[in-house]
Amino acid sequence: MKLGLRFRLIAFTFCLILTVGGSILGYSVYLGRDNIFNAFEREAIESAAVITESVLNDLYFFDLRGLDVRLAAARANTDIRRIDVMDLEGVVVAETGKGDSRLGHQLGGPLAAGMRSASTWLSISEGGFFHVAGPVSMPDGSRIGYLHVEFALDEPQARAHHLATGIFLMTLVCLAAGGAVAVGLSARFARPIVEMAHAARQIGGGMLETRISIKRNDELGVLAQSINELAANRQKAEKALAEKAEELTRSNQELEQFAYVASHDLQEPLRMITGYTQLLAKRYGDKLDQNANEYIDYAVEGAKRMQGLIRDLLTYSRVGTRGKEFALTDCEAVVAGTLRVLQPAIEESAATVTYDPLPTVMGDETQLLQLFQNLIGNAVKYRDSKPPVVHVSCKQEGEHWLFSVRDNGIGIDPQYANRIFVIFQRLHGRDKYAGTGIGLAVCKKIVERHDGKIWVESELGKGATFHFTIPTNGERT
Ligand SMILES: Nc1ncnc2c1ncn2[C@@H]1O[C@H](COP(=O)(O)OP(=O)(O)OP(=O)(O)O)[C@@H](O)[C@H]1O
Ligand SMILES: [Mg+2]
Repeated sequence: MKLGLRFRLIAFTFCLILTVGGSILGYSVYLGRDNIFNAFEREAIESAAVITESVLNDLYFFDLRGLDVRLAAARANTDIRRIDVMDLEGVVVAETGKGDSRLGHQLGGPLAAGMRSASTWLSISEGGFFHVAGPVSMPDGSRIGYLHVEFALDEPQARAHHLATGIFLMTLVCLAAGGAVAVGLSARFARPIVEMAHAARQIGGGMLETRISIKRNDELGVLAQSINELAANRQKAEKALAEKAEELTRSNQELEQFAYVASHDLQEPLRMITGYTQLLAKRYGDKLDQNANEYIDYAVEGAKRMQGLIRDLLTYSRVGTRGKEFALTDCEAVVAGTLRVLQPAIEESAATVTYDPLPTVMGDETQLLQLFQNLIGNAVKYRDSKPPVVHVSCKQEGEHWLFSVRDNGIGIDPQYANRIFVIFQRLHGRDKYAGTGIGLAVCKKIVERHDGKIWVESELGKGATFHFTIPTNGERT
């Protein structure tokens, strides 16, 4: 799962505060504990030194009662658990405090062993107690015995415990502060960004009425305002485009309607002109001179050509105005039908026309027949000396079928690749190849009505391949 920006910002801030705060607190604990125990050790050695001073004389004169009094006084310090005074052999001569009596015995353990060879105080923490041991020496430096003091660790341990509790509370405060900062940062920065990303996605997806409600004076505010302006501008542009498209459709329809009505209505008077001119020639031909007859022939021929052009124009305008509703159409059957219609031309030119398995598409069957008829008709018509070989193929390319009609004819100069689809545009005189130049214009209109595109790939003298696309409907024969 992708983690959101808000979660990541909260987690990052929290972790950062935790790491920095934790390191500082951890280091404080370490230093604090160390300080407490160092101070305790210093104090313990100082206490031991003071006791040494107090027992010095009594030990020197071996006044055991005096020693007992001194030790009892020293024990008033509640931290001291036990004190042992030893002679030069390390044998305990006076003692006070808890534990079994050691009078007359030597002290054991590493401390006692080290004490006799050391010149300063030794200290060790052992069995939950703190031991300090060292020599008792006269002012002239001569050693007269040893002293061992055992301290309870309650006090430094309590202090360390206090420190840990304090630091634990500080950690809690740190966590709460970290959480608050993280949530605050997220609310202040991440939430607006997430809101803007959401709005930008909606606007990108076409919901142009979406607006961001963030109002603030920093860069995020500027960004929000810019996104809003972008959406508003795009909304305006799309509206203008839709209006233009609607206007264009309307004017196209009007134009088609006009072309249809004009060509339809022109047919009647043209028929009259042709009819009466032919009648004139028939009835009065022998009474007119040769020139007059020639003029009449020209007039008839002109009128017939005009009839042809008007008929083509009518066909062209009918693609848009008289199209049928789309239905599932088997293109293979359509091509087979086309070949039947074109049979005479195919036979006459000894053409070979083949086709691959073709799909079923949603379309206007009559117009698809017209389309294949024009393309295969051209492929057979625009041949050179060799018999035409024509092949119709089709393959699926993403969301559409790509149809291709390939021939081995005279080919087309690529510079005219677009011109040939314009109405009445021809590349040859009528004396060479018959026709009016309407076929490919009709093809283009039919393909566009089917939401497709048509184009040609060719070179002069190397045959031509006409391609067109039709959207797929997920069906194939
Ligand atoms: N398969 C082809 N090979 C070579 N040239 C072609 C081919 N198809 C079309 N053309 C060229 O494109 C021009 C336009 O073709 P289009 O089918 O529109 O008109 P036409 O065949 O001349 O007349 P119509 O189809 O109206 O009888 C043709 O005059 C021809 O020069
Ligand atoms: Mg043609």
